[in-house]
Amino acid sequence: MKAATRTAYGSPKVLKLRTIDRPQPDDNELLIRVYATTVNRTDCGILTGKPYAIRLFTGLFKPSSEVPGTDFAGQVEAIGAKVTSFQVGDRVWGLHDEGLASQAEYMVVRADNGVVPIPENITYQEAAASAEGAHYAYNFINKVTLSKGDKVLVNGATGAIGSAAVQLLKYFGAVVTAVGNTPNMALLDSLGAFKTFDYLKEDFTKDTDNYKFIFDTVGKSSFHKCKHLLVPGGVYISSELGPMAENLYLPILTRFKNKRVIFPVPMNCKRTLVFMNELLAKGEFKPVIDRIYRLEEIEEAYSYVMRGEKTGNVLISYYNEPS
Ligand SMILES: NC(=O)c1ccc[n+]([C@@H]2O[C@H](COP(=O)([O-])OP(=O)(O)OC[C@H]3O[C@@H](n4cnc5c(N)ncnc54)[C@H](OP(=O)(O)O)[C@@H]3O)[C@@H](O)[C@H]2O)c1
Repeated sequence: MKAATRTAYGSPKVLKLRTIDRPQPDDNELLIRVYATTVNRTDCGILTGKPYAIRLFTGLFKPSSEVPGTDFAGQVEAIGAKVTSFQVGDRVWGLHDEGLASQAEYMVVRADNGVVPIPENITYQEAAASAEGAHYAYNFINKVTLSKGDKVLVNGATGAIGSAAVQLLKYFGAVVTAVGNTPNMALLDSLGAFKTFDYLKEDFTKDTDNYKFIFDTVGKSSFHKCKHLLVPGGVYISSELGPMAENLYLPILTRFKNKRVIFPVPMNCKRTLVFMNELLAKGEFKPVIDRIYRLEEIEEAYSYVMRGEKTGNVLISYYNEPS
């Protein structure tokens, strides 16, 4: 089978498209024909091995998996002898943020870990694009006690995490202010933003509104820049470590203050998939898809994603995806 491969951490140039053996499922695994996967910011962290802490999970000196990729949507091609929860031919999708070797024509995954059926109305591409960004967005929301009508500001609302966060917050009844760029103002309105800021023209930190939560889903601001926008009891959460990795220690320093920082340690991926399936089936979530590349264009796809300018999600999708 064709697969993106690499043997060392590095830039997208370390990626080589090769023909390698198709993996064989063990007793508890599914063999999946992959029809869509994203190239996301978690993949970029695993590709470069930075921040270095990521190597505790993905291989200390070199990547433990030759094939990259953290999410997928595809069809079950074969099942292990002990698998009872899936059948050959099932349409499935999944995510594992430490890696799934999904940037290949085939992959294997444990049947009990991070894999769920795709709702009938959803395509492979839509399912794959509802995985990684939505997972981190849902993870932010699960770290706070959100009530209907709460005002929430989302910085970086045009990214994979941000575009999912706006939709999920709207679903939970929050009143969302979304910060994005000029070409995407209409997109932010369509995702459910009540108010928008164009960061290319205006500084959201000069806003006169106050917020219960600020989700800096692109990590370009900081607690100190946003603190005055928080109401007493308000919380700031960022997707990045921040200046001097402050988002790691500010949660401790602000723990008993009336404006706090929370570090969003990621949770169980399966929980996100089950929740997202509910929303997708009800038509309450539409993933934002920016570009679709072929597996042969993997290096270009990573280079684009690493520029930090994508709108929503970037996909790798294969020639023989069934319609
Ligand atoms: N902690 C974790 O486990 C984890 C996991 C995944 C990702 N991350 C981090 O989370 C961040 C977001 O990930 P993502 O996948 O959502 O990113 P992304 O899709 O690459 O999106 C970044 C978005 O932010 C916008 N943006 C850039 N500069 C901005 C600014 N100054 N103000 C407001 N918006 C700005 C970009 O718009 P333009 O088109 O205008 O540039 C782009 O649409 C990344 O920094 C990533 O490294 C963390």
